[in-house]
Order: sequence, then structure tokens, then C-alpha cells
Amino acid sequence: RHVLVIGGGANSEHDVSLGSAAAVRDALLASGHLVTGLTIRRDGSWETPSGARLGVAAAIQRLRESDVVFPALHGEGTEDGTIAGLLETIGVPYVGSGVRAGALAMDKWAAKLIAEKLGVATAAGVLIDGASEHGDPAAVRLPVVVKPVASGSSYGAARVERAEDLRSAIAAAQAYDPRVLIEEFVTAREIDVAVMRLASGEIHVAPALEIGKDAQQLFDTALKYDQAPDFRVPAELPPAVAESLGRAARVIYDAVGCAGVARVDFFVRGEEIIFNEINTMPGMTEHSQVPRMFAVDGVTFAELTARLVEAAFA
Ligand code: DAL
Ligand code: MG
Repeated sequence: RHVLVIGGGANSEHDVSLGSAAAVRDALLASGHLVTGLTIRRDGSWETPSGARLGVAAAIQRLRESDVVFPALHGEGTEDGTIAGLLETIGVPYVGSGVRAGALAMDKWAAKLIAEKLGVATAAGVLIDGASEHGDPAAVRLPVVVKPVASGSSYGAARVERAEDLRSAIAAAQAYDPRVLIEEFVTAREIDVAVMRLASGEIHVAPALEIGKDAQQLFDTALKYDQAPDFRVPAELPPAVAESLGRAARVIYDAVGCAGVARVDFFVRGEEIIFNEINTMPGMTEHSQVPRMFAVDGVTFAELTARLVEAAFA
């Protein structure tokens, strides 16, 4: 198959996405695919691997010439259904979630409401949307996490301990998205669960991964990317907790309407599980959570990307 991998994007996760795209390309080459690439530059224009700028019509032509597109793209304007919408419109098969799932998952408030409706707990939270506030501010106690509703890799997110620091944290988050979420900080273990629908329709829930860190610490951008994070997989969990995490992740994956692989992030406090967020195009380097989780089940990164490509035709 001729796979076109898109990387980059006109958002804060541009570089993270370039990392995913390079790794996905290598993995697909290793599994015998014919691979080409396109990059979305920071200004939103398109570029070929040799650095030639493409107009939108020429970029669409390239996309059409491939058998399937792998959007190794993170963040708003890409993972939020935008690129899926483009590919749906031009009729090219693609890896991963469609418009609805991308849009719902990128909206941390919407994802939270869905999880709650499904009976999965979330942290007490308030949405600040311009002059309006949604939710119950009295329910949210310090310390809190302030985060842009639609962002990724923790860009614009901060832990706030003192009321007097709230205003500046909100302003910092608003640089990424005018809508801001304030959530009570959950002092707990952080556990990720990966869910993938295979071409056969079967669902593969990979072993859970724990993020090794201090429970009081926010898993912020610096912890994620400045050095190799401490991922423990499989996470040491009582079987009942592992099972309810897997079940919750799967139910949320289905309700949001995901395809391909999604990473569902939770807090775990004793037996209690609390949904944090869901990512429809999680980080895709060999050292990222999702490839690490599937590796424990014997699925190499090359095999994982090959399965995602096959699932795009299901
Ligand atoms: N948004 C980053 C790439 C992740 O979820 O892994
Ligand atoms: Mg995310």
C-alpha cells in the first residue's frame, strides 16, 4: 500500500507531531509499505519532504494519489476532526478517528460530560467561556489545574495552588484556547489505557501504563518531553482495577465514536478511577505511551502502524 504520512500542523504541538510522523514513517517502511509524506507548516501551508511549498489544490492532489493517509497530527486544527473532514470530503481512506470523535475528544469539556454521563467519574471542574461560567465553581477547591479546553501535550496547562495565581493561569491558558477548564487537582496515580479497533472489528485493549511521577506533580510539557518520562508498563494494578479501567476506556472510546487507536488517560486513587481525557491521535514515537503498551502484548511498533493502516479500510 502507498501510505501518505502527514506531520506538523499549525498549532503548539507542531514539533511533537513531526516526531510522531517521522517515527510512523520509519515503522511503516519497516513493515514493507510504500511511504510518502507531507508536512503542514506552522503557518498552515503544506510542504513536501524536499521542502517544496504546495498550494492547497496540489496538496489535495498528493493526498488523492495515495491509497491511505496516516495523519500523525496532534492538536487543534488537525486531530480535532479538521483533517478527517478534509479526507472524508475528498474520499481518501485514513487512519484513526473521524470528524465527530476528533472534535469531541479535542474538547476536554465535552469529553468530560460524556464520561460522566457514562458513569465514569471526572474531577470537579468549571468551564470558563468568555463571560460565562459552566459548572459549579463552589465544587472546585484548590489546588486546581487550569488548562485550555482544546490543546494537547499540556501546552498552556498549569497547576495552581493559590487563588491569587488563578487569573494569570487563566490568561496563559487563553493564549491556546479562549475556552478554559479549571479542574480540581487529583492527587492520584496517573494511568493510561490504549484502545484499538482492528480491521476485523475486534477491540484490543493494551495493558495499562503508569506515569512514574510524584502524585502532586502535573504531568506537564516539560515532564513529557524534556527528558524521557518514566513509563511503567504494565502498570501494577489490582486485577479488578485494571479490568474496570479497560472497561471504562472501551466504553468512552465507543461513545466518542473513535476509530484506530485512542489513549484514554485516568487518575487512579485506590480502587477509584477518574477519567482525565481521551486522545484520538496519541503520541506515536517508539517511546510514546501507546507503542510501549502494545509492545508488552507483543505488537511491535511496525506491526501497530501496519494494523492501523489495515483498520483504515474496514
Ligand atoms: N497530545 C499528545 C501527543 C498525546 O496525547 O500523546
Ligand atoms: Mg491530550
